[in-house]
Amino acid sequence: MKLSHDVVIVGSGLAGLRAALEASQYYDVAVVSKLFPLRSHSGAAQGGIAAALANEEEDHIDWHFFDTVKGSDYLGDQDAIELLVNDALPTLFELEHLGTPFSRTAEGKIAQRKFGGHTKNYGEAAVLRACYAADRTGHVLLHTLYEQCVKNNVKFYNEYYAVDLLVKDNITRGLVAYDMPNGRFVSFHSKVVMFGTGGYGRAYKITSNAHANTGDGLGITVRAGIPLEDMEFVQFHPTGIYAYGILVTEGARGEGGYLLNNDGERFMKQYAPKVMELAPRDLVSRSIWTEINEGRGIDGKRCVHLDLRHLGEERLKERLPEIMGFCRKLVGVDPVKEPIPIEPTAHYSMGGIPVTVDAEVLADGIDNKVEGFYAAGECACVSVHGANRLGTNSLLDAVVYGRRAGKSIVRFLNENGTVKAEYVEDQFKASLDRVDKIKNNTGTEKVGTLRNELQAVMNEKVGVYRDENNLKEGLTKVEELEQRFANIQIDDKGTVFNTDLAEALELGNLLDFARHIVAGALNRHESRGGHARIDFPKRDDNDWLKHTIALRKDDGTIEFTYKPVVITKFQPQERKY
Ligand code: FUM
Repeated sequence: MKLSHDVVIVGSGLAGLRAALEASQYYDVAVVSKLFPLRSHSGAAQGGIAAALANEEEDHIDWHFFDTVKGSDYLGDQDAIELLVNDALPTLFELEHLGTPFSRTAEGKIAQRKFGGHTKNYGEAAVLRACYAADRTGHVLLHTLYEQCVKNNVKFYNEYYAVDLLVKDNITRGLVAYDMPNGRFVSFHSKVVMFGTGGYGRAYKITSNAHANTGDGLGITVRAGIPLEDMEFVQFHPTGIYAYGILVTEGARGEGGYLLNNDGERFMKQYAPKVMELAPRDLVSRSIWTEINEGRGIDGKRCVHLDLRHLGEERLKERLPEIMGFCRKLVGVDPVKEPIPIEPTAHYSMGGIPVTVDAEVLADGIDNKVEGFYAAGECACVSVHGANRLGTNSLLDAVVYGRRAGKSIVRFLNENGTVKAEYVEDQFKASLDRVDKIKNNTGTEKVGTLRNELQAVMNEKVGVYRDENNLKEGLTKVEELEQRFANIQIDDKGTVFNTDLAEALELGNLLDFARHIVAGALNRHESRGGHARIDFPKRDDNDWLKHTIALRKDDGTIEFTYKPVVITKFQPQERKY
């Protein structure tokens, strides 16, 4: 089955929808999503979207710029960060005018709260910068942009699972997707494909991410022969509900929540005396692990407490209603009366598909573009987050760079026209053959078993703290899982809504980029942001102030090259909070 559009966008989170909204003013745009769009994971972002609006207290774009650079442990590209923070204000006003129901100050302005790593006066104290809608900010933004896309006649292909990119001679030709409700495979014929496919938290056992977050866009990109950037940098959000990983927003600490160890002590005073619980996530997650590893976890378990009781029921109901519901319904803890047991949870990928500031995908990770291929949001590495993202900068990144992608696509089509590129029948067929092989394989391995083993090894060996032995063991295990994947068998041989097949394809994607994470972490002999090596505990700007470009070769091994970090205004300094 062949379909044709001027622009095909994969993923219906904030990046994909914002790009679709932009491009659909001029061109025929299709959004392909494996979920119904309002179930996209952007909707799970809780606490806020950053912008130095100064609605509640003094704030400046330059402070936001500095905090993001420092938060990134100086690995973020400062040209891209400057674009992000400058665009933050118009972006917030635009979202407001499109109808987003933000929480309000007494004067009716957009309300703002504190968040980790966002400070006043270049690090002096926490600042009120996160614009929020209670603790469902991503949810309301997603609804707002979806409504606007529907109004703009964007064509949605819901529950279509993206399988492979069609690209030949470095020119994008379209996309192969599995139309799950109708049980058929579709070739989207298009000169422009954009990925807003989100993150891959489901590579880990304890994660805040939805089941759908299997990094499909990254797997597809790897199979198209394109490298990935900075994949060793994985963010652990400090406050996942213990043993489940479900997110308890950083907004809870922004509202004044405490972190307590088994001695009832606010331990963050030792690790970040100035901002305490509002230090950036990498630092808070490491502090929690240190407390646990030194025996101060709650009742000997691998968790500490997040205490919100002193905030009072009224404030919790107004500011954190979803968190109250999750804790009460899912784990039987009432935050009004009891502290919440939490542990760091895999949350965000700082690395991803290498792109320019105009969201153009780089074939070599450095400067050679793939014509017609774009990426934005969590799946892309632009790199505004460097080695560690600040909370609330991801929603901002998705909307700002989603819009930039949309504008860039419009420019490309204006210059090149919409006459479709040559149809690449051979590649479509090769993609279907790959799927058939997985579907009809008669091996002895089960997808669920392999996925569980992958998630466990990533959590244990490639987590908050890393060292050479663990990473080597992790790499060996990933290689073993890749081999066992060739010996799987799925039970469902049907065509319609074959989730067995979709899960096998998802696992294939996870395995196609897991080595980039583990080998990248083994290769980087320093500690920076979300990458903490026990055996190389210091940041090493002499040798490692550079981005990793990791290319998977035909034999599965990873070849590393590097590119310099863009430094414009803020020279690397020691990072204290
Ligand atoms: O903690 C949170 O609400 C998550 C926000 C984010 O990842 O930006």
